[in-house]
Amino acid sequence: MSVQISACGPGSEALLAALHARCFSECWNEAEMAGLLASPGVSALVIEEEGEPAGLALIRVVLDEAELLTLGVLPDRRARGHGLALLAATETAARKAGAARLFLEVSHVNAPAAGLYQRAGYVQVGERKRYYRDGADARVLARDL
Ligand SMILES: CC(C)(COP(=O)(O)OP(=O)(O)OC[C@H]1O[C@@H](n2cnc3c(N)ncnc32)[C@H](O)[C@@H]1OP(=O)(O)O)[C@@H](O)C(=O)NCCC(=O)NCCS
Repeated sequence: MSVQISACGPGSEALLAALHARCFSECWNEAEMAGLLASPGVSALVIEEEGEPAGLALIRVVLDEAELLTLGVLPDRRARGHGLALLAATETAARKAGAARLFLEVSHVNAPAAGLYQRAGYVQVGERKRYYRDGADARVLARDL
């Protein structure tokens, strides 16, 4: 299986929005993606399997802290290590941009993502009550880079 991860910048909003829409029920449209890509410190990665886009990740780096804004793998491309590979590439990009720690939020009811972050060494550092639109709490996780 050939897998490639590349950075994408302004002009990639259509691709990123299409991928996001297939990964999440509450998705970010092209205008929202374009706004994010134009924001200071934000960068995006796309993972391709056999030349076909299979997932995305966005981060924001401010000084020595990075935030994982989103991470998703297309439903028919999951359980092949793409999520873990994207997360590792995201951490490398964040480190290169000067971050020493990566933070993220994950819903209490998102078992696959919780499994992924636990496997990657993230630990809970906080909690946000009723953070998501469905009323679920968010766990705030972090890892030193
Ligand atoms: C979370 C998500 C990105 C995982 O992507 P993936 O490519 O399937 O993950 P990987 O194949 O790299 O799995 C890596 C590890 O994550 C964990 N994991 C993945 N899927 C899991 C599941 N369904 N249940 C429990 N743990 C799971 C496992 O520890 C796995 O390691 P293993 O295969 O050795 O057991 C994917 O399910 C997704 O896009 N979900 C919808 C969007 C989302 O919720 N994103 C996260 C927002 S915080």
